[in-house]
Amino acid sequence: MGGVVPELAARAHLEALAPVVDAALRALPGGWDGVDAVAVTRGPGLVGCLLVGVMYAKSAAAARRLPIVGVSHLAGHVYSACLADPALEPPFLALVVSGGHTDCVRLDTHGSAQRLASTRDDAVGEAFDKVARMLGLPYPGGPAIERAAMGGDPQRFALPRTHVPHAFSFSGLKTAVRYALRDLGVSGDGDAVPEPGMVRDMAAAFQEAAVDQLVRGLDEAVEKTGAQTIAVVGGVAANRLLRERVRVHFEGLTVVVPPLELCTDNAAMIALAGRHRLQARGSDPADFGVDPSLAEFA
Ligand code: KG4
Ligand code: ZN
Repeated sequence: MGGVVPELAARAHLEALAPVVDAALRALPGGWDGVDAVAVTRGPGLVGCLLVGVMYAKSAAAARRLPIVGVSHLAGHVYSACLADPALEPPFLALVVSGGHTDCVRLDTHGSAQRLASTRDDAVGEAFDKVARMLGLPYPGGPAIERAAMGGDPQRFALPRTHVPHAFSFSGLKTAVRYALRDLGVSGDGDAVPEPGMVRDMAAAFQEAAVDQLVRGLDEAVEKTGAQTIAVVGGVAANRLLRERVRVHFEGLTVVVPPLELCTDNAAMIALAGRHRLQARGSDPADFGVDPSLAEFA
């Protein structure tokens, strides 16, 4: 199978949340006395998980009489760049690459961002996950493909680069991998495990093509906006080839790519996005809800 089962994910949140918050508070000098507001992700994401988090945060804020602010998970990823580089201030351009999103956005000021480009079909992380499955690699696919690609020959398979002006698209690339595997007698449904050399070379070719497409899309946004500072954030920003290519391609610009632990989902980025949102717009009323398809970046 692979992937995330929504109900199991919500139950796992219910079990893990209180112990994780307790552990964080034990590490904080003064515990709750050191907390001056509560920030919580209110979207996008799986509704069950969002509800568990927002209910818990509302209860904690009410019990401690603290202001609460609902934050976009995507704003969290954008602000992970500010966590990595405390001197970073808007305006800057951010490439947000995760399991659900492939967006190029500009944070204009704290609390205000605009989307310049997004994917027409699959998110890039989703494409990594689906291609990994075709190759018989485990979930999540991104780290598995990165590992498998080490020592692989990215030239062995000629995969296409899809170019949509001022947008991204990854379904053509994913389908090209499926057809290339089929030509080699591999179904691509994850049932039959292809031979290791083929997995290595296909993983390397796919990774190379996906990174090429991301760099090209970011390049267009840089051209269009004249941005001097760019950040690459989200789970896929953990990819070493992407990190290296962005640094080389945009040499001369200020490039911020957070350390790996700030690329994948984390609570610190939500706290920082929450602080800026609180300062820019004030706290949220007690009845705010969740939004599984929220598309806010600040
Ligand atoms: O931001 P994230 O942790 O969760 C979402 O908000 O979606 O991103 C998860 C995505 C998954 O699709 C995963 O395969 C991908 O990030 N990912 C990577 C790497 N590490 C995680 N993709 C490519 N290379 C990696 N090293
Ligand atoms: Zn994320």
